[in-house]
Amino acid sequence: MTLDLVLRGGTLVSPQATRPVTIGLAAGRVVLILDAAESLAGREVRDLDGLLLLPGLIDCHVHCREPGGHAHKGTYASESRAAAAGGVTTMLTMPNTVPFCGSAAVLAAARECAQRSLIDYGFHFGVTADNLAEVAAAADLPVAKLYLNETTGITSPLADDAVLRRVLALGLPLSAHAEGDTLDWLLGLHARWGTGPLYVVHVALAREVAALRAAKARGQWVYAEATTHHLLLTDQDAARLGPYGDMRPTLKTAADQAALWAGLADGTIDTIATDHAPHLREEKESGSPPPGVPGLQTLLPLLLEQVAAGRLTLAQVVRLTAAQPAAIFGLCGKGAVAVGSDADLVAVDPTAATVIEHATQYTWPGWTPFDGWTCRGRVEAVWRRGELVYEAGQEPGTGGGREVTVARAHRS
Ligand code: DOR
Ligand code: ZN
Repeated sequence: MTLDLVLRGGTLVSPQATRPVTIGLAAGRVVLILDAAESLAGREVRDLDGLLLLPGLIDCHVHCREPGGHAHKGTYASESRAAAAGGVTTMLTMPNTVPFCGSAAVLAAARECAQRSLIDYGFHFGVTADNLAEVAAAADLPVAKLYLNETTGITSPLADDAVLRRVLALGLPLSAHAEGDTLDWLLGLHARWGTGPLYVVHVALAREVAALRAAKARGQWVYAEATTHHLLLTDQDAARLGPYGDMRPTLKTAADQAALWAGLADGTIDTIATDHAPHLREEKESGSPPPGVPGLQTLLPLLLEQVAAGRLTLAQVVRLTAAQPAAIFGLCGKGAVAVGSDADLVAVDPTAATVIEHATQYTWPGWTPFDGWTCRGRVEAVWRRGELVYEAGQEPGTGGGREVTVARAHRS
């Protein structure tokens, strides 16, 4: 077989081991992984000496504003370019679009828009009080989303025990926006009626970490996500950033933040995602600024800085942003660099720096709450299914992303 691309000499990072390798790619997949000393021929050979090679990141929590009325904030086409520039090669997108993505018709429209994505994608299907049949029919999607608190586009969150009981009994993977007391209520219902996994998005409070730790200790099938902004910013930053530091959940205290880090350390928190939520500057400057901040492009640089600072290991970064997202949602071919997997790869220069600036953000609104931060580590090149979609110093590509396929996870 002729290899399309040979990547020579990079240090492959996986949750288990870190070693220099030569990798052969063909037809969008990894077909060979050899010791770095071995030589391979291919149509193209690229030297990655001195660089780290990571599996493309999977961001489980992204808002692209299509289809419909919020598309001016950011689209699959625009936001996926920010993603690629940050080493994210797969995203799972949220249903709080206008119209809400909780019907076959809106899902079809979302699929149409998502075809313009540069990176691969999957959908969280939206649950409403009366769309149970449509949720059941969307069982081939990675997950269905429960909104139990108010946020952008959600003015009447689900609040009815009976509705939740029926949804929980479907046994499908569910994701949930549930803060504080609402999380306690949901975990109680899930303990009693749940037959499938529950993925709790953007955990932010110490009491939420504690509730999830206790649920896991009781044997409940739950997972927890933390966002980069809750891990790295606090209410002090919210005061400084004003509307640009406002999101749901809001930024919390340093004690809450410490609890998130403790949750990462002891495995209570399973993934790090962005809750990438583009809103225009003029909307943020208005009398009623919408909550949410972009994050796709800054996720990996910020985590690399945590590695440089000794707060995370590279293996943890790979586990939290690739291996576990793929395992939790059953994303076929994703989350690992292994023979047969999709060739989603990120080359990182650990000796170079990323200076995060508004001006270099590809997200449509063109701002970031992390403006001015310097991170040790830089994304050099990104391949999505073997195709180079980003190269440092150049514009990201356009289009070519496709929908993920799902193999339903059984509980191990
Ligand atoms: O801050 C947020 N913004 N939190 C959410 O839950 C939704 C998001 C958005 O869609 O803007
Ligand atoms: Zn969100």
